[in-house]
Amino acid sequence: PGPADAAGDQSPVDASRYVFNPFASDFIRDPYPHYAKLRALDPVHFAPIGAYVVSRHADVGTVLKDRRFGKAFVERSAKRYGSEVVREPLFDHMSKTMLLSDPPHHTRLRNLVVKAFTARQVEAMRPRIQQVVDQALDAVVDRGKMDLVSEFAYHPPVTIICDMLGIPDDERGFFHAVSEDSVRVLESAAFTPEEIAAANSRVKSVRDYFERLYEQCRRRPGNDLTTQLVMAEEDGNRLTNEELTASIMLLFVAGHETTINLIGNSLITLHRNPDQMALLRTDPGLIHNAIDEFLRYEPSIQFTGRVALEDMELADKRIAKGDNIVCLLASANRDAAVYPDRPDEFDITRRNSKPLSFGGGIHFCLGAQLARLQTEIAVTTLLRRLPRLQIDDVENPAWKPNFVIRGPRVLPASW
Ligand code: HEM
Repeated sequence: PGPADAAGDQSPVDASRYVFNPFASDFIRDPYPHYAKLRALDPVHFAPIGAYVVSRHADVGTVLKDRRFGKAFVERSAKRYGSEVVREPLFDHMSKTMLLSDPPHHTRLRNLVVKAFTARQVEAMRPRIQQVVDQALDAVVDRGKMDLVSEFAYHPPVTIICDMLGIPDDERGFFHAVSEDSVRVLESAAFTPEEIAAANSRVKSVRDYFERLYEQCRRRPGNDLTTQLVMAEEDGNRLTNEELTASIMLLFVAGHETTINLIGNSLITLHRNPDQMALLRTDPGLIHNAIDEFLRYEPSIQFTGRVALEDMELADKRIAKGDNIVCLLASANRDAAVYPDRPDEFDITRRNSKPLSFGGGIHFCLGAQLARLQTEIAVTTLLRRLPRLQIDDVENPAWKPNFVIRGPRVLPASW
């Protein structure tokens, strides 16, 4: 069977007429056969979404690491919405995040925050993460059922990042709307002028909120990351208030939705593969390997974007300066050139899996260790404390209708 068959389509496909369509009705349910087609037929494919879609592991790795590709966020957004709009709060705020900056701005922003995410700092959070996971289970254990997304997977990432940043419990909801605006910018969603106006005003209130918080941190320094960032700014006059707010909001956004979905996807994958779940129960030492495999097999971020900063060739295609590139991380993770042994099977004993799920190059995920640790504690604790847990309709969960973020919207389960 050829790659066309892999997508459930029995007729052979003419590579020169092949069109990648992420809007196909079955795409969200199972994007992987579509990626297999892309890799086989046109690995650097110009799609009607206005971007080159790059699907093979080697090419994705090249784009992530090669400095001839970057973010060029302001230029790209100005082309789409006009240079006036890009100076308004929403785009100005996003342009000040490390995620959407190029060096040297990126280097300066990243250096300041990276110290809070060393392996040692993250490992020190283990007891607190365990406590949050246990509390989430204590609250539901006698009930016999729960939604694994809102009542379980949600708690560790949101609590830990808010603890780190010193955001009080009752104010966490306030950030959610801004966080959703940011996710839409990252997805390159099309904004209407009204939506931009509403998002601008939310960014303004968040900036005002943080200005007040920075004042408090200066007067009464706490033991949190926000205070550290404010002080670092004071020491070397390094970040403006707006840059600080962009960094803090980025940590909030990048640190929660992604990990909630990785926990959700890991639970779905284990329950779809009972032999692997049994293996993990018998040999809990496999958990670190299993996490690499969760990341490889069902990554919660399916792709990331770049812009060509100069004219060049990529896998025989001519790319022009300013062209948009979609790096399909989730497709790279299934490439038989790197995973010759049954790439479409979930195998927690797979060695050296090194998935691209946290990206690569200078933007490699800052929270990778933290996300791994949270997933480890969430999955192992759930297996231990609720051994009879079953996910309702695990073959057909309610996936979020989103191409970038892959994860279940809700995940009802009982025991
Ligand atoms: C960057 C994925 C969790 C903070 C990235 C990138 C990916 C990614 C793919 C690179 C984007 C690019 O190259 O354009 C994930 C996944 C996570 C996760 C799949 C969970 C399963 C976290 C957590 C935090 C975090 C827990 C922080 C608390 C960041 C930041 C960046 C980033 C700050 C930007 C780094 C830079 O631009 O230099 N993440 N992430 N992430 N991630 Fe994560």
